Amino acid sequence: MLRSALLNVMIKAAHKAGRMLKRDFGEVEHLQVSLKGPANFVTISDQRAEEMLREELEHARPGYGFVGEEGGVREGSDKTHRWIVDPVDGTLNFLHGIPHFAISIALEREGTIIAGVVYNPASDELFTAERGKGAFLNDQRLRVAARKRLADAVVACALPHPSRGEVERARNEHTAVQDKVAGMRRFGAAALDLAWVAAGRFDAYWERGLSPWDVAAGIALVREAGGFVTDLDGRDDMLKTGDILAGNEAIHRELLQVLKQSSRTSSTARSALA
Ligand code: IPD
Ligand code: CA
Ligand code: CA
Repeated sequence: MLRSALLNVMIKAAHKAGRMLKRDFGEVEHLQVSLKGPANFVTISDQRAEEMLREELEHARPGYGFVGEEGGVREGSDKTHRWIVDPVDGTLNFLHGIPHFAISIALEREGTIIAGVVYNPASDELFTAERGKGAFLNDQRLRVAARKRLADAVVACALPHPSRGEVERARNEHTAVQDKVAGMRRFGAAALDLAWVAAGRFDAYWERGLSPWDVAAGIALVREAGGFVTDLDGRDDMLKTGDILAGNEAIHRELLQVLKQSSRTSSTARSALA
């Protein structure tokens, strides 16, 4: 398959870091682990993978800015381009020997995401997208699912830890959605949740309180697979608000209404208690 020079750069970096992660995954019980906050683990693999990705990407495109989960922001001399990288999305899965985690690399140009790569080294599934050129899983072109009825949909979601996010609101949203869909899933890697929406495995996915590196590449994948992505107000501000809803046009529209209604009900209940 013929890919652009840009995607080749991103894929080469993802494969290189992926080989290392796969080795570490095989002996995960020996890895050094530390806590960044309550129930927020980081392994030596997260740090090594980010370092490797940064070096590879900087070498191929000197001057581009870089923002990674572990190393923070590095300004580049080229102010128009910025890599947005999560070296391991799904660290908790990784630590528990669950083969559902991914490297996520996005490239932003003047504030617009123009390419995304999400790679799960454990399954060797490589999701790629470039603006205007479609989304792919390995060599296969992707299209979001065609289901139109919420009642037939399988929807991915999150279960926020009580130390992060508003648990009460999340519970209300779960209940509201659960009543209307065929099934709900919580797999624990936002980048793969989005990639799986792009692949038509999930009909939709929503989550609140994410960081740009969790979603930037996945947004490109869903859009290039013909899907819709917004925040939970229906706006294109996912990287700012950290909230995201993705799906095909019909399911996205219906789910947005359900989630907005649930938010209204929660805030009315809160004010009644105040
Ligand atoms: C996490 C995963 C998870 C999501 C969390 C993220 P990490 O990323 O994407 O699915 O629910 O909010 O922080 O910490 O494993 O890179
Ligand atoms: Ca992440
Ligand atoms: Ca991470």
